[in-house]
Amino acid sequence: MPHSSSQLAAIILAAGKGTRLKSEIPKVLHRAAGWPLIYFSLHLIKKLHVNPTVLVVEKNSHPIKEALKNFASQPLTFAIQDPPLGTGHAVLQGLKKLKSFKGNILILYGDMPLIKPETIESLLKSHEQTSATLSFVTAHLDPHNPYGRVVRNQNGNPLKVMEVKDATEDEKKNREVNVGIYLVSSDFLAKGLSQIDQNNAQNEYYLTDLIKIAHQENRIMNTVTVDDFMETQGVNTQEELEKVEGYLIQKKLADWMNQGVRVIGRESIYLEQNVTCGTGTTIFGPCFLFGKTVIGKNCVLEPGVFIRNSHLGSEVRIKAYAYLDDATLGQKSQVGPFAHLRPQTILKEEAKVGNFVEVKKSTIGRGSKVNHLSYIGDAKIGSQVNVGAGTITCNYDGKKKHPTILDDGVFVGSDTQFVAPVRVGKNAVIGAGSTITKNVKPYSLALTRAEQKEIKNWVKKKSEKQGIDK
Ligand code: UD1
Ligand code: CA
Repeated sequence: MPHSSSQLAAIILAAGKGTRLKSEIPKVLHRAAGWPLIYFSLHLIKKLHVNPTVLVVEKNSHPIKEALKNFASQPLTFAIQDPPLGTGHAVLQGLKKLKSFKGNILILYGDMPLIKPETIESLLKSHEQTSATLSFVTAHLDPHNPYGRVVRNQNGNPLKVMEVKDATEDEKKNREVNVGIYLVSSDFLAKGLSQIDQNNAQNEYYLTDLIKIAHQENRIMNTVTVDDFMETQGVNTQEELEKVEGYLIQKKLADWMNQGVRVIGRESIYLEQNVTCGTGTTIFGPCFLFGKTVIGKNCVLEPGVFIRNSHLGSEVRIKAYAYLDDATLGQKSQVGPFAHLRPQTILKEEAKVGNFVEVKKSTIGRGSKVNHLSYIGDAKIGSQVNVGAGTITCNYDGKKKHPTILDDGVFVGSDTQFVAPVRVGKNAVIGAGSTITKNVKPYSLALTRAEQKEIKNWVKKKSEKQGIDK
């Protein structure tokens, strides 16, 4: 959606503490559905093809720069605001990095993740159509909201924006509020900012004073009003963060449902922005889907499932209360209930991992089964292998990890330990209760079990000795 004017820069405000969030970390690094808040603003800017973009950050900008490493953003210039003295002061720092720029400057607050690109598009369009010097976005909210009130004259032209802390009782009743999105010509911005002072309840340089200044100078002003109040939701408190996150999750679930995903208990599903899901899949809540998780078509996620950074092929079934972290699951594979797949676990097509099984850094081949009470670590299991109940790979000698290899068609009896490194050849059978310390040749039977002894009538004889009648 490229805008019509090529001369468009952006300043995004991301300094200032998360005071009201009661948190040590910078406000714009708080996460909503897996994304730091600042990602949303940058994502928006990217869609709009704005260039150049200045991000205003606080003195210790390291955490923000770190967080942006994982985000493919457009080129950014950083401006430091130290100390943060208000939104007007922040924009001034940003403007210093745009000295040679002539054109319109879009100003966004980094704590508003739900703004739609369409809103900015219509702001740009109406700005141009009205030849405005300053345009800004407004919304109509209930009278108790904390946003700056838009005050207009009898002709309906904006006179000023009053912060609630500075507003009169009459002004507070005004339902039209300042959303916090502005488009300003670079010339006026420089001039206007130089006139802003700190004479207000918070002793800050308010960016919103630009509206009063533009009015005093008889500049043309233009406003765009949004109907969807969620779009304007800022994140200033933990409750607002939760509200925004809930909105993002529910919207994504709605998109999935429109693409044929069946969702049961949507309120108890948590999922992050980068998760994708194929059509025909059924998801029961509660369910937690994190990171870059990809869920294939026609899968079933039963209740209580936790999945992070994992890839599920089609027709995979994750039974109740399974925990998957960095795992790759082939088509028609099954996991759980109560299973734990740790990083670098690979299940090939139709493999099965059952209840109370932990798998780490292992591949389980096509059609193979580890169905009950087992630990499989650093193992390579071929296809059509049956691993009996209570099998353990003893992969760690206290210093190093060692591999266990079970070739295709191996049958492992219950309660077996593999003391790694060890390899079992194709189609070999391991007798139940064995401790395998040496490699086993293909087609062999290996067992280490002590032979069973039987002493006939031992119980009777013992009782007789003790004078007990049995
Ligand atoms: C601001 C507006 C208010 C509007 C509301 C909408 C002002 C004075 N008020 O209030 O009219 O209704 O947004 O959400 O602008 N920031 C800096 N440096 C600073 C201060 C803030 O970079 O010195 C950044 C913050 O990180 C934040 C953004 O600017 O992302 C807005 O600041 P915030 O303190 O949240 O403003 P509000 O009180 O919400
Ligand atoms: Ca805010």
